[in-house]
Amino acid sequence: MVSNSSSATSRPLTARPSGPLGGACQVPGDKSISHRALMFGAIAEGESEISGLLEGEDVLRTAEAMRALGATVERETGPDGPIWRVRGRGLDGLVEPAGVLDLGNSGTAARLLTGLLAGRPMTCFMTGDASLTARPMNRVTVPLSAMGARFETRAGGRLPMAIVGADAPSPITYRLPVASAQVKSAVLLAGLSAEGRTIVEEPVGTRDHTERMLTHFGASVRVEPPDGKRPRRIAVTGPARLKGASVAVPGDISSAAFPIVAALITGAEELRIANVGLNPLRTGILDSLIEMGARIELADTREQGGEPVADLIVRKSTLIGIDVPADRAPRMIDEYPILSVAAAFAEGTTRMNGLGELRVKETDRLAAMHTGLSSCGVTAEAGEDWLAVTGTGGRPAGGVTVASELDHRIAMSFLVLGLAAENPVSVDDGSPIETSFPDFAGLIETLAGAPVIQPALRATG
Ligand code: S3P
Repeated sequence: MVSNSSSATSRPLTARPSGPLGGACQVPGDKSISHRALMFGAIAEGESEISGLLEGEDVLRTAEAMRALGATVERETGPDGPIWRVRGRGLDGLVEPAGVLDLGNSGTAARLLTGLLAGRPMTCFMTGDASLTARPMNRVTVPLSAMGARFETRAGGRLPMAIVGADAPSPITYRLPVASAQVKSAVLLAGLSAEGRTIVEEPVGTRDHTERMLTHFGASVRVEPPDGKRPRRIAVTGPARLKGASVAVPGDISSAAFPIVAALITGAEELRIANVGLNPLRTGILDSLIEMGARIELADTREQGGEPVADLIVRKSTLIGIDVPADRAPRMIDEYPILSVAAAFAEGTTRMNGLGELRVKETDRLAAMHTGLSSCGVTAEAGEDWLAVTGTGGRPAGGVTVASELDHRIAMSFLVLGLAAENPVSVDDGSPIETSFPDFAGLIETLAGAPVIQPALRATG
């Protein structure tokens, strides 16, 4: 559990029972793609133009870090929304930052940047908030040390840490011991500075935005076997020269999952979400909801900057409990909190397996969901790496305040639950929502037709 060190600025929020949440909306840009677009733009030669960037706190931390490393990162207002322009001077153009790189709450920014900096001949210092400084960094420092970088961390491989990049990084072949796109990406990004082929083998496929976007920026990336059969071998050849590129960031399926589940549990006739990224290594949440009986259709499926994109249509459905297989976890790793809320409104038990990685996210999400659901009156059982949630097809009691533990997805999950519970549900701190979904309450208000999520006047429960 992570304690909220910023309680002076914490923002309690309450969601009250709402009518159906339907209509049409868009969700903010994909967080994973946004981080990568800024980082790759900053190490490319020339200008990159990014539209649809997620302007959440996590991504703004990455923008700030890339500025500190010498890139120019500017925001302009275009006719169809903000445009971010990044001017880099190639990998060799990165400069040693004068201060400490503070990545806030963002594990993705911290792990990917550590990889990038491990291959550069300079010394950098990195830190984060109370959540990030409790998360393991040794999953990246172990392979990056084998490439020649050196690290000084706190006990247990935690931030703050010093990164002494390798003068001449060695290419390695690394088999991922955990299914993690962050670890895969860190090794590949260090490999951009190594002479020769750096290879990552992944027994189970994880989101491949890094591979797709590096290719889009002109790096030499080979994925074998190309048909996605396991295990995948991803090779980058260095030293790489990236060229500035345009990136149109699609909506984040991980953010779309919240209004989708809100529509399903409040009985909306129809919800349409335009322009959602549907990378096949991210769509486990749709598979699971459809197995539970959700009627979800894709419309206008297209490709945008090397990523599949479509509009989603969600129709009124009755949900039943299912078994979610362990091998689906990498394809829906961030969506278990909101899936377990859907499960609380389904009839029967939903058992989610293979959830060990949930214990090292922004908080221990397995424990946070188990505790929070139980306090809302939902029957939930948890093991070391599984969670079982039993619904009755009716409404949980709610009427409590749940700790969000500096975790945006825990906060949003319980607020969604409160939209369809018998009584309002509060979270002790809604401020972490800014990391990934800055106007979450506003979007829910538009769909509900009423301000159903508001600052909490008093703690309930
Ligand atoms: C991410 C990878 C995932 C995910 C995170 C974003 C990424 O982490 O949980 O929100 O952008 O690469 P792991 O790859 O460590 O599971």
